[in-house]
Amino acid sequence: MNIGFLGDIVGRPGRTMVKTHLRQIIQKESLDKVIANSENISHGFGMTVKNHKEMTKAGIDIYTGGNHSFDKKDDYEEVLAHPTALRPTNYPDDVAGRGVGIYDVVGEKLAVISLMGQFAMPICDNPFRKVLSIVDELTAQNIAHIVVDFHAETTAEKRVMAKLLEGKVSAIFGTHTHIGTDDYDTTRGTFYVTDVGLTGCVDNIIGMDEKIPTKKFLTGIGGHFKINNSCKKIMQMFVLDIDSNGKTTKAKKIKIYENKPMEQIAI
Ligand SMILES: [Fe+2]
Ligand SMILES: [Fe+2]
Repeated sequence: MNIGFLGDIVGRPGRTMVKTHLRQIIQKESLDKVIANSENISHGFGMTVKNHKEMTKAGIDIYTGGNHSFDKKDDYEEVLAHPTALRPTNYPDDVAGRGVGIYDVVGEKLAVISLMGQFAMPICDNPFRKVLSIVDELTAQNIAHIVVDFHAETTAEKRVMAKLLEGKVSAIFGTHTHIGTDDYDTTRGTFYVTDVGLTGCVDNIIGMDEKIPTKKFLTGIGGHFKINNSCKKIMQMFVLDIDSNGKTTKAKKIKIYENKPMEQIAI
């Protein structure tokens, strides 16, 4: 099974990169499913019904979520009613949507778990205990292909998740910080990276225009973050080969800057 994973796609610049490049990568890498974090797809905050359709047409099959999954007040219930769209599973059960999706992929079952950390995040259930019980349930159902999006702020939370799930899942992709890290590795068949990094504006502040965050840090007074449509754009993603036992056997990072040749790092 060949899987592609994109981290946080941030606003129109991110969507433009996906629309321009993803289909070609799907074809070249023979991807069976593409997963992406959706929490910033629409104007940097949440995902609208319209953008869900637009990104699905561009090649994304499954959407994970984060602390911004509910920001589009008029749209999130409809989006999350769709089986392709997940929100972190450790939100309370009576919150709209679901956090685990099971999909048929080339004759196998693929489970995708959307999960959120606890540091500087909305109050939610313990993600470590929650994911262990979900993985046990999936394993009992003979589902070996399991991909986790761990949407968390701190590197320590993410590294603990890596060690807890090592050998138990196919991949753990860190998201939320928007900054790609270079600690990608595969151990006992489990691929791990602390953060995939954003797809969108790479020369600003985590995909957003620098003015408001700079003012916030200089004065303590914040404001609504905006996306600068004129920026240096990046698309970054990982591509995995997962064998029939659910073990990752090959991984690659793909980085595309506008008007530059594609960079590929074999892992
Ligand atoms: Fe994000
Ligand atoms: Fe986030």
